[in-house]
Amino acid sequence: MNELEEIKNKVDIVEYIGKYVPLKQSGRNFKGCCPFHNEKTASFMVSPEKQIFHCFGCGKGGDIFTFTEEIEGVDFVTALREMAEKAGVKLPDRGGVRKEPTDRLFEINEQVCDLYEKELWKDANKKIVKYLLDRGMEEKTIKTFRLGFAPQNGDLIVKELGVIGYLDEDLLKSGIAKERNSKILDQFFNRITFPIMNAGGRVVGFTARVLDDSLPKYVNTPETPIYHKSSVLFGFDKAKEQIRKQNHVIIVEGQMDAIFSYQAGVKNVVASSGTALTEAHLDLIKRFTKNIKMAFDVDMAGQNATRRAIELAWEREFNIKVISVPEGKDPADLVKSDPKKWVEACRKAKYVVDYIFDSTFEKYNTTNILDKKQATKELLVMIKKLPDPVERDHYLNLLATRVGVSAAALEAALAKVKSVVPKESKPTDQSAVGSQAPAQTREEYTLSMLLLTPKYYEFFFNKLEPVDFTDERLRGLVEGILKYTEKNEDLQVQPWIKTLDTKDSNYVSQLQMMTENEFADASEETLNEELFYAVSRLKRECIEREKKVLGDKMAAADRSADSKLMRELMSELQQIIEKERNL
Ligand code: GTP
Ligand code: MN
Repeated sequence: MNELEEIKNKVDIVEYIGKYVPLKQSGRNFKGCCPFHNEKTASFMVSPEKQIFHCFGCGKGGDIFTFTEEIEGVDFVTALREMAEKAGVKLPDRGGVRKEPTDRLFEINEQVCDLYEKELWKDANKKIVKYLLDRGMEEKTIKTFRLGFAPQNGDLIVKELGVIGYLDEDLLKSGIAKERNSKILDQFFNRITFPIMNAGGRVVGFTARVLDDSLPKYVNTPETPIYHKSSVLFGFDKAKEQIRKQNHVIIVEGQMDAIFSYQAGVKNVVASSGTALTEAHLDLIKRFTKNIKMAFDVDMAGQNATRRAIELAWEREFNIKVISVPEGKDPADLVKSDPKKWVEACRKAKYVVDYIFDSTFEKYNTTNILDKKQATKELLVMIKKLPDPVERDHYLNLLATRVGVSAAALEAALAKVKSVVPKESKPTDQSAVGSQAPAQTREEYTLSMLLLTPKYYEFFFNKLEPVDFTDERLRGLVEGILKYTEKNEDLQVQPWIKTLDTKDSNYVSQLQMMTENEFADASEETLNEELFYAVSRLKRECIEREKKVLGDKMAAADRSADSKLMRELMSELQQIIEKERNL
């Protein structure tokens, strides 16, 4: 007996698909607007005779299972189970219908999720529940999201599952166990567990949070055959119905944020779990809605993640709004202080172009000419990407007013933008992999850019100090240049080089050659831009370094409970954050 055929026979494909797409009869078939791509004229066809659907516009087609997979964002097995249930067809338990090799991994994760949940609600772990309740989480929410607790013993889960009969090999493969010194141990212990479900609601892995301030704050399931961090959106299974109904999705950064949002009644919410949005995430979302509201942390790093995500989503024709969350807070904090505030923040989400305008002007100090040029350039690049000419015009005029130049001048600049883009993408890409590049090379590069554009030395020293160079030799040279400019009120490279000893002057000449070659026929503007990027990048790196050092100090102060020192360090941190904002 073929269960697939049985289900197909029992489910009326027109009625089933009709729930998602309004269909009209057209001869022997039914027609409607395709749910998988944007269209105004119906090219989506359903054939009750053949039990298939097909879209002549985008080429998608298949049977009811394919349709469910696509529209619900689930895998075949999940689609099959859903349909079987609807049709009242009983599937053989094991081994029968297309038993996937990954089924065991799903089973293990489900069992473990269950064990963690039971553990959490044990009397002995009341304080863990209390932690969650104290943070404002309701019991019902904890149960809906199936939060749990991974106990302290390092191999409790492994042992329990061993008793049930799972092999170490499968436990390792499922990501819930790890091997240490040839022992099989639990992947998580003494942590609050958040199961991660795929779109069909099956547990594929976990993220687990410490109970105090120790690090790492979260530990995740490693990549497994069923868990791919870059394509899972936390909370999607619970959100998808509301996403479709409200025709937009709210994307937050942390799973705590998603959970609290859900609790506050904003249920069309998913978490990207700290990573930037990926193409796979967007592909999943696209099946449900073209409208995104993003609520990433509004710190510098957050803004950059937001921007990358925006560009990616833009290329895929999403409509994007950005939800502003008060600085230093995340959606979870907002819900805790007052759920209405979060609801309100979501309602007031700003159209992304307006958001980028505002954040760009916040980032740059537009009384400084180089900064102003840079802000204008960045916004022009964005404006150029706007698909609608009316909109493009509107924002061009807005930019002109804000930077105080004529719209005509900007239009001329806009026409040139295209050729600038590829050049710009180079430094931007590099900054994306930034921390991997050796610091010294970056420092050398930055100094050599100054040597190439000496007339901008004031800009350079406005942003950077000699101590920002970790390499001793470079620091010495930068210090020398600073002194030279103080004395001469100008920077003339050749005369300055003459003041150096032979070793240093050879070294500096080498540095010069590197960039002179690279930018042999670069325009003034490009040089300008490159200096800007080099300086900003280096500064950002310094700030990151400072923050890290301070973080270590704070951790130590915390351990020794030195509250006076802690206060001092806190105000230091504040200053660094201030600097970062002024970058
Ligand atoms: P709470 O502190 O409990 O409110 O969690 P949070 O979600 O606010 O944490 P945070 O804003 O620090 O981080 C946002 C998201 O980044 C988290 O939800 C995680 O998905 C991820 N994240 C944060 N810290 C870590 C970490 O140490 N390791 C990993 N792998 N992910 C992390
Ligand atoms: Mn938080």
